[in-house]
Amino acid sequence: MLTKEVESMLDIPNYYHDEFNLTSMVSYWCIIENLLKITKPTSVCEIGAERGITSKQLSSYCQDNQISLNIVDPCGIDQDLDNFKVLKIFKERSKDFLCREIPIDFYLIDGDHNYQTVMMELELGVRNKKNKQMPFFMLHDVSWPWAYRDLYFDYIEDGLEVKHSYKTNTALSIDSNELMTIGFPVTKAYAAAIEFGGGHNGVLQAVEDFRKKSGEKQWYFWKIPNLYGLGVLFHKPSLSGINCRKIIRFLNGVEPFRPFLNVLEANRLRALQCLFELQARQKTIEKERDSEHTYIKELENRLAELSNSWQKQQSYISVLEERLDSLTKEHTAASSYIVELEQRLAQQVK
Ligand SMILES: C[S@@+](CC[C@H](N)C(=O)[O-])C[C@H]1O[C@@H](n2cnc3c(N)ncnc32)[C@H](O)[C@@H]1O
Repeated sequence: MLTKEVESMLDIPNYYHDEFNLTSMVSYWCIIENLLKITKPTSVCEIGAERGITSKQLSSYCQDNQISLNIVDPCGIDQDLDNFKVLKIFKERSKDFLCREIPIDFYLIDGDHNYQTVMMELELGVRNKKNKQMPFFMLHDVSWPWAYRDLYFDYIEDGLEVKHSYKTNTALSIDSNELMTIGFPVTKAYAAAIEFGGGHNGVLQAVEDFRKKSGEKQWYFWKIPNLYGLGVLFHKPSLSGINCRKIIRFLNGVEPFRPFLNVLEANRLRALQCLFELQARQKTIEKERDSEHTYIKELENRLAELSNSWQKQQSYISVLEERLDSLTKEHTAASSYIVELEQRLAQQVK
């Protein structure tokens, strides 16, 4: 846990989660909140909730501002949000939710990070006939590693027409486009496309193709690479001129710092990769140590067995020696008796 001194020195916001790999969109809250304040949506939707870290922050904001909030995740939310009356939870996939055509002004897209799903989410979000205007989108994972490589949460289930060959239980590396054995882990909970890029692959590719189809000038897109990448996508003609300028001015405020942000992300990824590599090495060493322990146990058991059987043999040898001894004695006695009998026989013959 951060000390109070560190918290104050770094001016850490109260929504900060002190974990080594930050994967929640809540870290972008200063951006999300500003954009919510400017766009003033009446309905918000978060696609992909997982532990509900962003959901909680959003719920509180939406409750305070009387905004209806819809949270969609086929696995539900790992968080108790019963107190928030503005919140509705949909335990289903984004496609099923979007087909309900509930009017949504503002989306946080952070569900299944693959081209087809993200393209479908943007297209269905835009096509919703019950919307009064084009929705505003914020998207997570528009940078490395899922910008131009599909991730499939749904790879186990039927129904997802996957374009790319994929692999699970593998790893990603910032030093190679190939899947690796060690690096950022791709656990068995999801799968990664084997090939990098090549079209129809990844979250950013979906946004880029969506803009090409729908009009790049009308659909403004802004992104930063930090914490796996945040993208902001909105339809300029659907916003008032004032709001549009406010948003663009706000987002462009980071431009002078962009090289610094890029370097920060590259360095963060390097540090994380080193950590994952060390964790993998530690696992290998632990496995080796465990198998050495098992081998030592096996040798000890064999040694115990051998010493057991050696002791049995020793006592058998003793028995045999005793028998040999008594037989030798019997043999000596018999021999002297034979000599005696022979002598007696010889005397009688005389
Ligand atoms: C990266 S997590 C979301 C994190 C969350 N947005 C946050 O900021 O804390 C991705 C979540 O998306 C969910 N998910 C996967 N496929 C989905 C789909 N088709 N529709 C909606 N959610 C999906 C997963 O169950 C997982 O909980």
